Amino acid sequence: MAEYTTVANKDDFASGDRIVVEVAGKYVAVFMVGGTFYAIEDICTHDDGPLAEGELNGTEIECPRHGARFDIKTGKVLSMPATQPVTTFPVRLEGDDVQILI
Ligand code: FES
Repeated sequence: MAEYTTVANKDDFASGDRIVVEVAGKYVAVFMVGGTFYAIEDICTHDDGPLAEGELNGTEIECPRHGARFDIKTGKVLSMPATQPVTTFPVRLEGDDVQILI
């Protein structure tokens, strides 16, 4: 059975901050926006760009490689050249711990 993994302390984030963690062999970008945490795979579906290095506008992340945009809440593609959604992961808070489910 899959279990949640603690990846950070919630107090380490200001709104718009992100970190990249490796869990179960996957690179995951964890974002905090306005007190809510989101986690997506840190690999652009267009050509493997490092999404966490992109510019964040609200809950839209722009890939630093060729500019595809994704919604970090849903993983949905918002603009080309990517056409496939990015994987999202459930996030929860346990006390101060930020936990993700891979
Ligand atoms: S690798 Fe992300 S848009 Fe091309």
